[in-house]
Amino acid sequence: MRLLKQFKLLRSFTQDPLVFITNQRKEQGDFFTVHLGIKKIHFACHPKYAEAMLGTKSDQFQKSRLIFNKIRPITGRRGLVQLENDEWSRVRKITNQIFQRQYMARYPEMMIYFLDKECEKIDGANAVNIIELMTSYTLKTALTVIFGNINNKTVESFSSLFLELNARCGLRMRSFLSLPSIRIYGIQQALRSKIMALVTSQHTAGVNLMSVLRQQIPMIDNDATELIVDQLMTFLFAGFETTAASLASSLYLIAKYPELQEKIISDDDKKSYTTTVYKETLRLYPPAWMLARQAVTDTLLCEQNIAKGDNIFLCVREIQRHPDYWSSPDACQPERFFLDDKPRFSFLPFGMGKRICSGHAMAMMEAVLAISRLCQRYQFSLPDNQPLKMTAMVTLHPVGNINLRVIKR
Ligand code: HEM
Repeated sequence: MRLLKQFKLLRSFTQDPLVFITNQRKEQGDFFTVHLGIKKIHFACHPKYAEAMLGTKSDQFQKSRLIFNKIRPITGRRGLVQLENDEWSRVRKITNQIFQRQYMARYPEMMIYFLDKECEKIDGANAVNIIELMTSYTLKTALTVIFGNINNKTVESFSSLFLELNARCGLRMRSFLSLPSIRIYGIQQALRSKIMALVTSQHTAGVNLMSVLRQQIPMIDNDATELIVDQLMTFLFAGFETTAASLASSLYLIAKYPELQEKIISDDDKKSYTTTVYKETLRLYPPAWMLARQAVTDTLLCEQNIAKGDNIFLCVREIQRHPDYWSSPDACQPERFFLDDKPRFSFLPFGMGKRICSGHAMAMMEAVLAISRLCQRYQFSLPDNQPLKMTAMVTLHPVGNINLRVIKR
């Protein structure tokens, strides 16, 4: 009987984890423990748990193997997101170099170039598939930061393989089953050999992630080369679908609420209002909808007993809509970000603490720039009153296409 109940819970989690978590939180409160099939999971939906797990007690938690093993086909065994302790520190320090101020200063020009190329596709049109457009834009900017200048054919071959790999791993993540998949293995190998070919042959001018890694990790053996490929795969995984999904969601909100567009157009030089619109999108639809951790020791998490090895899902989406911290939590009100009245851990779309997103400054720059430039050029509206449906896979992203009506200003 108990086992049957556990499998029913697993089924409803698998079908729609967002609805499952919201319903359980309403019934059981901000911290609850559920047996999903044979796995015991704690769900934490309050900023105080985030503060402890990512801040004050972060040394007592590591990435959850239950979840992170499932994305190994994407990130490899030693991609930055998978690492802990000294090896994580070493690789993080090396990879952080591409986000230093002098390199960041060069990114806007490159971003504008790729965005304007996308705009050429919609200049004569009256409708746009905004997910496709934003995916193409963020993939090209990510590939440039990661590999330097690469040609269109490489962009296209990476794009379809990567999107399929992400989708297939996302399904595995929800099912809690890790059955070997020939298709996943096939795509993984195809992508890795393409990247391996770039790493071992191409010597690009300028500074990019690949050149930094090649310089700092001498490719003396296969192990070192694999470590480099793992980082390149990881940054691609982390660096474009997340930004594309959030940008598409932002433009959906902008199309739905025309008053946002007017305010974006008359924004100040610092793009303060545009930034609040993007932050509000990240609050409502955080691409990293939950952060999965595992206790490395028996511990107390704000009065909750946690045993060594327990898995805890920090529910970012629930925290960012927590009614104690966010008034009208489901409403789109960008102005709320002008008030500096929220506890730090109540808004964490990029995580927090030492494992905070490596590319958060780049993502903010890329998104605010795109939202601002697109609104200056076009007026967006919804062709019908379609709601924004999201699906939680590896990341949270819109279901199907988002088609927007577009008029050139
Ligand atoms: C809107 C866009 C993005 C969102 C919402 C996002 C979110 C996140 C979050 C929440 C984490 C922490 C995961 C955890 O603590 O378990 C993370 C880690 C990471 N992100 Fe992002 N990210 C975005 C864009 C990017 C970009 C553009 C890059 C790079 C080009 C990037 C690279 C990474 C890397 C390498 C990590 C792992 C850091 C580590 O483990 O030390 N992300 N991201």
